[in-house]
Amino acid sequence: MFSVRLLRILLVGMALALSSFASTKGAQQLPAGWRIAAGNWRFADGAIFVDSMKSEARVTFGENSWQNYEIEVSATFLKVQNDSRWLAVVFRAARDGSTPWSQFPIRLKTSDRSGSEFAVRKDKRWDVRQRVNASEDSKIGRPRRLRVVVHGSNVQGYLDGRLLVESPFCMDRAAGCVGLCVSGCMARFDDFNVRHLPDTSPALRQDPRPCEVIAHRGFSAVAPENTLTAIRKAIEAGASGCEFDVYAAKDGPVVLMHDSTVNRTTNGSGRVTELTVAELRRLDAGSWKDRRYAGESVPTLEEALRTLKGTGCQAVIEIKMDGISKRVVETVREAGMLDQAAVIAFSPTVVKEVRALEPRLPCAWLSGEKLKGSPTERADWIAARARQCNTNMVDLNYNMLSPEVLAELKKRGLIVWTWTVNDSVIIDGLMRWGIQSITTDRPDLAAELSRHAAERTDGSSHIQR
Ligand code: G3P
Ligand code: CA
Repeated sequence: MFSVRLLRILLVGMALALSSFASTKGAQQLPAGWRIAAGNWRFADGAIFVDSMKSEARVTFGENSWQNYEIEVSATFLKVQNDSRWLAVVFRAARDGSTPWSQFPIRLKTSDRSGSEFAVRKDKRWDVRQRVNASEDSKIGRPRRLRVVVHGSNVQGYLDGRLLVESPFCMDRAAGCVGLCVSGCMARFDDFNVRHLPDTSPALRQDPRPCEVIAHRGFSAVAPENTLTAIRKAIEAGASGCEFDVYAAKDGPVVLMHDSTVNRTTNGSGRVTELTVAELRRLDAGSWKDRRYAGESVPTLEEALRTLKGTGCQAVIEIKMDGISKRVVETVREAGMLDQAAVIAFSPTVVKEVRALEPRLPCAWLSGEKLKGSPTERADWIAARARQCNTNMVDLNYNMLSPEVLAELKKRGLIVWTWTVNDSVIIDGLMRWGIQSITTDRPDLAAELSRHAAERTDGSSHIQR
């Protein structure tokens, strides 16, 4: 049923096959260089076979010191427990199979929403950095060609010659060996090749000033979001800023709330804009998070500013609705917080209004756009939008960034903030690339990483006015 092909492992640069398997044809043990980390693997007829119907199976190949490489293999599902089961190429791994390792898997149902992905195995969990799907499902007995290119912190995963996954966040290990991993299926692997690519130097922080750490909706990992307790905990955690979301209540005052209704984060229901401040303040905005926060109220913007004033922690106010820019700016002015606040908004109209109302108040345009094109094209698009809003500050979803895009944005004179990053590896990577501010649910973690990053450089706060 399957063609008998020679398993080849080539290391270009050495210009010869590291292992020739002609002599091992028919042998049961894996060829030299391979190491079984888990499961039932065998080598036969010039191919590697694995049975992982009962539990996950993994093999590694190569050296922990390998940095940049291109891996190719033909992979065939032979039998699956169900069509969500997968086989994967492993990269940036450890020879002994320990975590973390990264992988590019395909499920039998490869066209599913998460038919393929870039995932990192952490101690006890998977961190899926990107989910993608192919146009065609895999079929039992039909080989598919997987190719992975790892260069610096960038990883690309190709299926049958088509780019499926690309991420600049392959940074859990600076170097590592390669391998295969399989879950809930029997599979065959042929024609495994590894080609070395030129080394790259590890990223060093590109900005002499420390990265600002903004607590997202307060210290929302531990306290109910957008409450005074979450703000106080953000200050205690050493955040340089505290982000929160605002709407106007029915009778005018600006209040903290992320959603347009109070349903998710309070014991009430209805639209924020259809409830008066008195009605909002009767709600319990803490119990949904934890019983110990019962009775926590919905704060007004004024209260939030008062809590932050003089602490050194900047108020980062996200305006979530149209028509309240003037009220927000006036509240900041009245609180005497112009020098300790910034505004962010997805709406270009709101950013433009705030810029016009109060040029002393820093104001960033928020975006989570999924952009395509070269780093230059992406940076051009973002810079044009910022210009239309009359601002030089952008606050981008971190998936919009790569070291190249960030460098291009800075070349265009933009101050670049990013949201919402909770993984310490990615936080550290973004800091090394030279990001100027990171919004996170874990300000404790990010503040510590920022201190370490600052120790490697020497500088002072960068927030520009
Ligand atoms: O800091 C920006 C970020 O808060 C935007 O997303 O949904 O959390 O308001 P969201
Ligand atoms: Ca927000």
